[in-house]
Order: sequence, then C-alpha cells, then structure tokens
Amino acid sequence: METYQQLAITRFGEPAVLAMQTQMLPALADAQVLADDQVLIKVAYAGVNPIDAKTRAGLGWAAAQNKDNLPWVPGYDIAGDVVACGQSVRRWSVGDRVSGFIGFPLQGGGYSEYVVVPAAQLSPVPASTPMRQAAALPLAGQTAWQALEKAAVKAGDQVLVLAGAGGVGHLAIQLAVARGAKVFASCSAGNADFVRQLGATALDYRQGPLDSQLKDADVLIDLMGGDVGTAALGCVKAGGRVVTVPTITAEQVCEQARQRGLQAEGMLVTPSVTQNDAMMAMLAAGTLSLHVDAVYPLADGAQAHQAIESGHTRGKIVLAVGGDA
Ligand SMILES: NC(=O)c1ccc[n+]([C@@H]2O[C@H](COP(=O)([O-])OP(=O)(O)OC[C@H]3O[C@@H](n4cnc5c(N)ncnc54)[C@H](OP(=O)(O)O)[C@@H]3O)[C@@H](O)[C@H]2O)c1
Repeated sequence: METYQQLAITRFGEPAVLAMQTQMLPALADAQVLADDQVLIKVAYAGVNPIDAKTRAGLGWAAAQNKDNLPWVPGYDIAGDVVACGQSVRRWSVGDRVSGFIGFPLQGGGYSEYVVVPAAQLSPVPASTPMRQAAALPLAGQTAWQALEKAAVKAGDQVLVLAGAGGVGHLAIQLAVARGAKVFASCSAGNADFVRQLGATALDYRQGPLDSQLKDADVLIDLMGGDVGTAALGCVKAGGRVVTVPTITAEQVCEQARQRGLQAEGMLVTPSVTQNDAMMAMLAAGTLSLHVDAVYPLADGAQAHQAIESGHTRGKIVLAVGGDA
C-alpha cells in the first residue's frame, strides 16, 4: 500500500518536536472517497509563516485549539498538482497547477506530500510562475493586501511599513506603491537595497528611533507589534491610520495609538481566493515580485522554523515537499 509523508508537531516545544509521520495514500487517491467538492493535491512546496513556529511553540489560538489534537500538521500555504477530483468539481482537472491558503486557522495541514482541499479554495498557477513562489504567496500576500485595504491606503499617502524586508512587508511595499503611495520601510542596513528595489525609502531601525527619521506618515502598517510598533506611532501624523498585524500585541498598540489621536485597528487575515488569483496574475505579469530566500527539504522543517524564529529572514522561506530543494 502506498504511503506519504507529513511533518507534524508531535508536542509543543523547540523545533526538534517536528517529526515526519507516515500516512496511507490509497483512500485519498480514490476519487470516490473525496467529498464531491474536494480535490487531492500532490504538494510541491509549502510556505513557512511565523504562525507555524508560534503554534509549534504552543503559543496563540491555533495551539490552544489543537493542544489535544497532537500530532498536528502545520502549514497554510501550498502549491502543487491536482491528482484527483471529487465528482462535482468542474474547475480543476488532474494535472492542473494550483496554489492555496488552506485550513486556516484551525486545520493547517500544508506540511504534507498530499492534501485534500475544497476546490473553491484554490487558484491556478500560471505556467511561468515557479511553484515555490506560488506556495510562498497566499498567506503573506493576502495579509499585505488586507492590511492596506483596512488602512484605506490611497494615492499620495505616505505609508510606513515596519519590517519591510519580511514575508508580508516586501509584498506590502509593492502593493502600496502600486496604489500610488509614497512608501517608507524599516529594515536593517543589510536589507536597505532590497527594500529600495521594491520601491520604498529604507529607514534603518538601528540608526536611531524611527520617529526621528519620519514624522508625518499618513499610515503605519505595523508588522512588528509590541514595543517596536508602539515606538513607531510617533512617525504618524495626527489623525493618521494604523493597522497593527501581530495579533498578540494588537490591543496594546491600538490603545497607545488611540491615546495619540490615531485611528488604529488589529487584523486577522481572511483567506480570499479572489486576492490570491489577482496576486498570482501580478506575479506572472511581473508587476509583483516575490523573494524566496531559502528552500528547505520537508524533513529539515526544524531548520526552517529556526530561520523564521530568527526574525531576520528576507522575503519568504518555503519547504520543498515534492519539488526540488
Ligand atoms: N494577524 C494576521 O493575520 C497575521 C498574518 C500574517 C502575519 N502576521 C504576523 O505579522 C508579523 C510579520 O510576519 P512576516 O511573515 O512578514 O514575518 P517575517 O517574514 O518573519 O519578518 C522578518 C523580517 O522582520 C524584520 N525585522 C526584524 N526586526 C525588525 C525591527 N526591529 N524593525 C524592522 N524590521 C525588523 C527583518 O528584517 P531585518 O533582518 O532587516 O531586521 C526580517 O526581514 C509576524 O508577527 C506574523 O506572525 C499576522
């Protein structure tokens, strides 16, 4: 009987708690046992996001919800090939290249050689788009898109993106520039050229407080949260808008922002196939670029988690599942 591999959180703790586990394939590959609206995907690459590592460490609501459900397979971003379709699936055929933001927030499951997903959660991957980029885009891209929507970023706005070199940040810069905003991005000196190439003015956070470098931003997209996010409120002009993305510190940052007379909101990304389709098309057209900094074999997922926990990865990192590392 054919088997396949997954990388699972066996218990909450250090990256070493991630371990490969084996599942049986035949039941999944039989189109008769897929629900009518489901497809079976052979995963090529899975995206790695900070929430995966936070959950593995036992932090946040995905960990709380799954604490009695271990081993649990993390991963919300996948790209791969359709290998079987449920009976009512018309949009996809065997062999189609697809990507998706799956199982969010409680199910996860992307760190796996095969996944079963509702057909409606998938986007086509154009032939010219590398699968590793297609796997890296969904969660980070939709977070960037929705943060800019929430902040109502428009042409002419001065927008500060904290952590502009990261997974969400490097996409948020480009989407804000595309809206006609003047974009500033905080990063270390080593990432200054990277964020400049994306269209932002780089602010080196190690060269003194950000509010001594910028004072009249209309919008702050806070991808750091906590004390870093709070300190950056001084960059925003009175009445300006703040969207703080890390959920754990959102209340704290919003409260401080309101005390300064700013409009502030937290957010939780909502999967949107429409947005994924749009950004996938932008990647193919070359109007959005996605930087994949490192690719780790699935079995080396612990190293990928160490990297994401360093807090200093550039762009995205992904796991090679069926694709080349
Ligand atoms: N609420 C939601 O729905 C939602 C969705 C997605 C993500 N998030 C959260 O949003 C945050 C960002 O996610 P991400 O995927 O973009 O993270 P990421 O890719 O891990 O971010 C890494 C980047 O952070 C930068 N950085 C580190 N310290 C910095 C500092 N003091 N100032 C400025 N930049 C700094 C690093 O740049 P340097 O190396 O140059 O320092 C690095 O490029 C995470 O906390 C994540 O959990 C929330």
